[in-house]
Order: sequence, then C-alpha cells, then structure tokens
Amino acid sequence: MFSLQGKIAIVTGASQGIGEAIAKVLALQGAQVIAVARNEVKLKQTVTMIQHEGGLAEYLVGDISQPEEAKRIVDAVIQKHGAVHCLINNAGITKDKLMIQMKLEEWDAVLNTNLRGPFLMTQAVTRPMMKQRWGRIVNIASVVGQMGNAGQANYVSAKSGLLGLTKTVARELGSRNITCNAVAPGYIESAMTQDLGENVTAGFIQKIPLERFGQSSDVAHAVAFLCSEEAAYITGQTLGVNGGMFMA
Ligand SMILES: NC(=O)c1ccc[n+]([C@@H]2O[C@H](COP(=O)([O-])OP(=O)(O)OC[C@H]3O[C@@H](n4cnc5c(N)ncnc54)[C@H](OP(=O)(O)O)[C@@H]3O)[C@@H](O)[C@H]2O)c1
Repeated sequence: MFSLQGKIAIVTGASQGIGEAIAKVLALQGAQVIAVARNEVKLKQTVTMIQHEGGLAEYLVGDISQPEEAKRIVDAVIQKHGAVHCLINNAGITKDKLMIQMKLEEWDAVLNTNLRGPFLMTQAVTRPMMKQRWGRIVNIASVVGQMGNAGQANYVSAKSGLLGLTKTVARELGSRNITCNAVAPGYIESAMTQDLGENVTAGFIQKIPLERFGQSSDVAHAVAFLCSEEAAYITGQTLGVNGGMFMA
C-alpha cells in the first residue's frame, strides 16, 4: 500500500463505520490521524483501537456543520502539529422521507452536515494547505448522488452538491498542488444500511455486478490511494466504490 508517513490527516465522522475504517487505514499507512465527531465516548474507542494496532491517532470533539467549530478543529491541529496534509470529509447523516412529506428541518439538517460541513472544513484547511503547497482533500459522496434515489431528496441533493464542490475546489486549488477528489460508495455494510431488511437488501444485491455489499475497508483503501503521493495527478474526480452498480 501507499505510504502516508509523516502526513497529518483529519478524518471527520471517524467515531464509527466508514470514517473509523478510513482513520484506521490512513494511520496504518503512517499518517498521524485526528478523528473528529460529536460523540467523545465512541471517538475514544476509535483512537484506542488504532493505537492498539500500532497507528498514531488522537481525537477532537466537534460539530463540523458549525463554522466556529470547523475553524476551532483545524486551528487546534495546526497549533499542535504545524500542518494539515489530508482532509477527509466523511461525516454524514440521513433523514429519509419522500419529498412530499419531508420537513424543512430534515432538509436543512442533512444539507448542513453533508454539504455545509465539508465546505466549512475545506475553507478552514485551505490557507494552511496553500502555504505548504501540498494538500489532499477527499469528500465521501454516495452513488445515490450520481443516480438519484426516491426518499432521499435531502441526502441526494447534498451528495450531488458535494461532487460539484469537489470539482470547484479542484479547479481553485490545483495551482497550489492541492488535489480534491470524491469517493462515492455504493451500499456498504454499516449502521446506515443494517436496517434495510432482507427483501430490500436482496433487491439491491441483484443490481450489483459483484453481488454483495461493500466493506468499510473497501472505501478506506480508495481514500488512502487518493491521499498518497502516487495520486498526485488525479484531481476533480469521483471514484466509485460500488461493486459496479453504477458505471459513470
Ligand atoms: N453506509 C453506506 O452504505 C454509505 C453509502 C454511501 C455513502 N456513505 C457515506 O459515507 C459516510 C459515512 O457513512 P457511515 O455509514 O459510516 O455513517 P455512520 O455510521 O452513521 O457514521 C457517521 C459519522 O459521522 C459523524 N457525524 C455525523 N454528524 C456529524 C457532525 N455534525 N459533526 C461531526 N461528525 C458528525 C458521526 O459521529 P457523531 O454522531 O458522534 O457526530 C459518525 O462518526 C457518510 O458521509 C455517508 O453519507 C455511506
């Protein structure tokens, strides 16, 4: 695998699921990981697990949808480590409902975490990354942001918007040797998909050429690649990790 030795990496939503797997893989590739989420108890567990495996990890509690929190998190990392090389915008929530029944609060909550959050975190790391003339930003989008999905108007709009943000950041920061890419997972075995029910799960699997849901580690390895030196000439792209269910 690709070395991330000496890199300082912020992973949002790292207290469980895909974010936890990303934090672990980046740390085991040599990065110093800063795991971010709101639940301190779970963050501690993530960090302890990574440390037991021999990786460097610490945590910061914070809500990435709030401007002052995003700034506080990045400022604390810069103050302690003097740099931030990688930002993984992974934190995300769902509040699914058919559009006709969707409340404005459900729309706002999902847009605030899944799109405003990545924007705020990206804005906060931009100056330090520009100064050091090296940066990797990876946004965790979703296959439904590419395809649309009934019952997820808020989530799909946020994830589609995240793909637009990815391309724009790639264009604005490319001259400073900062890349910005998206990873779009398909159906991944996780808290978000565990309550789908047997019939729904079987229906989804029929549409996946690799005939299974993915693992969090499948997403994490794609992220580690995009953070590496070897991915230096890749920017503004969306890497699908979806078992072939959507081919762009
Ligand atoms: N699971 C899938 O099949 C799938 C498929 C496609 C895309 N994705 C995307 O992959 C990402 C991770 O999904 P997952 O399944 O691992 O989700 P998950 O298990 O629900 O974890 C979400 C993480 O985000 C954190 N978080 C939520 N709101 C936050 C906020 N305002 N500030 C900081 N942290 C926050 C949560 O921690 P706290 O609650 O402690 O803050 C948690 O660590 C999401 O962006 C999701 O949309 C998932």
